[in-house]
Amino acid sequence: MKINENYLNLQESYLFSTIAKKVTDFKAANPEASVIRLGIGDVTMPLTGSVIKSLHAAVEEMGNADTFRGYGPEQGYDFLREAVAGYYGQHGTVIDSSEIFVSDGAKCDVANILDIFGQDNKVLLPNPVYPVYLDTNTMIGREVGYIDANMENGFLPLPNKEQQADLIYLCSPNNPTGAVYSKDDLKLWVDYANAQDAIILYDAAYEAFITDEDLPRSIYEIPGARNCAIEFNSFSKTAGFTGTRLGYTIVPQELIRDGNSLNKLWMRRQSTKFNGAPYITQRAGAAVFTPEGLSEIQQNLEYYRENASIIAKGLDELGIWYTGGKNSPYIWLKTPESMTSWEFFDFLLEKAWLVGTPGVGFGANGEGFFRLTAFGNREQTIEAMDRIRKIW
Ligand code: MLT
Repeated sequence: MKINENYLNLQESYLFSTIAKKVTDFKAANPEASVIRLGIGDVTMPLTGSVIKSLHAAVEEMGNADTFRGYGPEQGYDFLREAVAGYYGQHGTVIDSSEIFVSDGAKCDVANILDIFGQDNKVLLPNPVYPVYLDTNTMIGREVGYIDANMENGFLPLPNKEQQADLIYLCSPNNPTGAVYSKDDLKLWVDYANAQDAIILYDAAYEAFITDEDLPRSIYEIPGARNCAIEFNSFSKTAGFTGTRLGYTIVPQELIRDGNSLNKLWMRRQSTKFNGAPYITQRAGAAVFTPEGLSEIQQNLEYYRENASIIAKGLDELGIWYTGGKNSPYIWLKTPESMTSWEFFDFLLEKAWLVGTPGVGFGANGEGFFRLTAFGNREQTIEAMDRIRKIW
């Protein structure tokens, strides 16, 4: 028996688990500390009224022999896939429901999609990056290439035509930097991918935070993207489903490689290794896209946007460089000159009882940067900025 030794090449624990452990230790040693957590991007607003109503109704259905459901369709129920297609349609993007695969979250799909691609593919990741993209490639023993995101390019790297890639990960609005690609910049990526027959794995989990109408909410707003991109999306940040679990992946019918449909391969993968998201949860997801549901989530999104602008305003006053804070729930700031990301993490925790995420946890280019989220509650967000002002 041998273990998968690729796991030995991972950091010992997942970034957010390491942070949680540090905070638990700090609280045990300092029980009086009222710690504010703006670290992991976890929502704080409860599920909305229409979602709760729909959950209750679905629970009742499951308790009645006439309406009980067992295994559902592997790709997700039609009512939810059609609701998702309708949501994209409202933003001018036409997606056929046969291209939508419902799951229990974008994180799993982003990881599992690697099953349908060959081992020899060259992977290109921005640095810094959401750790799941890197770790899941490391787990299967694949080395990755990087493209630098930094202050010079506003943490929005553009393709380098000399660099070869088969699988390209992009996330916009970006986790961790909050930076958002314009349509013109995204077009450069789409053209680059099409020129080399590559596939873009596009994480759109934060699209609902975009308010600027010129910014793309989906990669399919870019001509040519249906030939080169798979898009991942989630109800987690859009509708507060981090603990409820629901997401979806869009695999356009145009994605054919070596005569094989990626949509069919993904279907084959999902129907073998996944038995679908719970009926109850899918009903809750469909409620999000009703007119009432959409207006309710807008109120929650507005609340988080206001938190983001409180953080951004505080940083502006202190003259601190940052990206994000607009069209995004993340704010990515430069740490004080003399401090590394982890030193700043410890400093904030000890002196301000405030938790954020060290930028270096997202890759070497994150060293000297720090991420705050807008997902806290209002009072704590205001208090967090007061504490930062006092110690900066
Ligand atoms: C984060 O804090 O980066 C998010 O919680 C990641 C995630 O959605 O898995």
